[in-house]
Amino acid sequence: MLRMAETGGTAPRIEAVHRRYGVDPRQVRLVRAPYRICPLGAHIDHQLGTVTAMAIDRAVWLAFAPTPADRRVRLTSRSFAGEVDFALDAVPDRVDGDWGNFPRGAVRALQAAGHDLRCGIVGVTDGGLAEGGLSSSAAIGVAYLLALQAANGLVVAPNDNIRLDQAIENGYLGLRNGILDPAAILLSRRDQLTVIDCKTMTHEVVPAGAGLRPFRVLIAFSGLRQALVSTDYNRRVGECQQAATALLAATGRGGTQALLGHITQEEYDAHAGVLTGPPSRRAAHVFAEMARVRNGVAAWRRGDTAELGRLMTASGHSSIHNYECGAPPLIDLYDILHTTDGVYGARFSGAGFRGCCVALVAPEAAEDAVASVRRRYARARPELAAEAPVLLCDSDDGARLVAQ
Ligand code: GLA
Repeated sequence: MLRMAETGGTAPRIEAVHRRYGVDPRQVRLVRAPYRICPLGAHIDHQLGTVTAMAIDRAVWLAFAPTPADRRVRLTSRSFAGEVDFALDAVPDRVDGDWGNFPRGAVRALQAAGHDLRCGIVGVTDGGLAEGGLSSSAAIGVAYLLALQAANGLVVAPNDNIRLDQAIENGYLGLRNGILDPAAILLSRRDQLTVIDCKTMTHEVVPAGAGLRPFRVLIAFSGLRQALVSTDYNRRVGECQQAATALLAATGRGGTQALLGHITQEEYDAHAGVLTGPPSRRAAHVFAEMARVRNGVAAWRRGDTAELGRLMTASGHSSIHNYECGAPPLIDLYDILHTTDGVYGARFSGAGFRGCCVALVAPEAAEDAVASVRRRYARARPELAAEAPVLLCDSDDGARLVAQ
């Protein structure tokens, strides 16, 4: 069942660590790592494109205390069964589908980057991982990284934390994704659009232009929950690389390992004809999406809500028809959302293989929109709708340690 955290305050979280592990409540600290949406920039982070993001006001929480004496990590979850317990000196390998992969991956990533972890943690987490589409994996990964760093007195720059979280996902979990998720979770600021250049690893938080109409973030879950690594996500990344390699050869620039971000728009326009089949459609999506991001950021800056929404919906269309990542229930939801009154624009929130769709919606129409989406999705997918909530959220700040 979905748990979007945020119920209850800090006191019960601190109390839970105290009760479970017997530590002094004054030693307990909290990390809040929000979920994210991506208004534009679908599947271009792993090709070194520029993406847009916002953190939202739903989050994963980790209440933790350092354990200097025993160099172990011991965790329980308010959302998942069982305890995770391992020694810092003998981190077990990945176990498919196990929530313990994230703390184990975080310790491995820190150690591989040369950080000397002397101190373990005990802790209790809140927040689901299984819904998909809001980057719950990166949120929990970032939460463990920040907690282990705090426990060990490490000061790590945001870009290094982005790389560390990528090491958890690419290295430990085997998902060939880009930096969209951890960058969004670490860098976002309330009411701003986070624009992340995945090639240079630079970012800007952009305030909305004066005329931008107020909006709320509508999240509609599909009820599909499988782990992204078990979908066609990695295959699509491979098809983008095939396209990039063929385009690079056509330019005569040599080299065999390329990503589409290494190819300029002019080179693509000149040589797109060498591509056929899936790589051709993936490249068509990626180059058009890069242009949508440029235009969408400009629309956000000048306060053009209609154009921003139109580009989001066009992004969703391209994800379905050129990137071909839309699972049928997600496509149903996308079709429902972009034809709902008050919706400015809609698309898959995450990869599109499972999880949820996101829409920006006029505040005065938001409650009716939620009711209408619920009704229409229940008709389209009765077998999934009972486990597929529709929520209204707002933008928020990125991940942080929270004072008690
Ligand atoms: C998932 C991945 C991200 C990104 C999106 C699609 O959320 O984790 O890295 O590729 O899909 O834009």
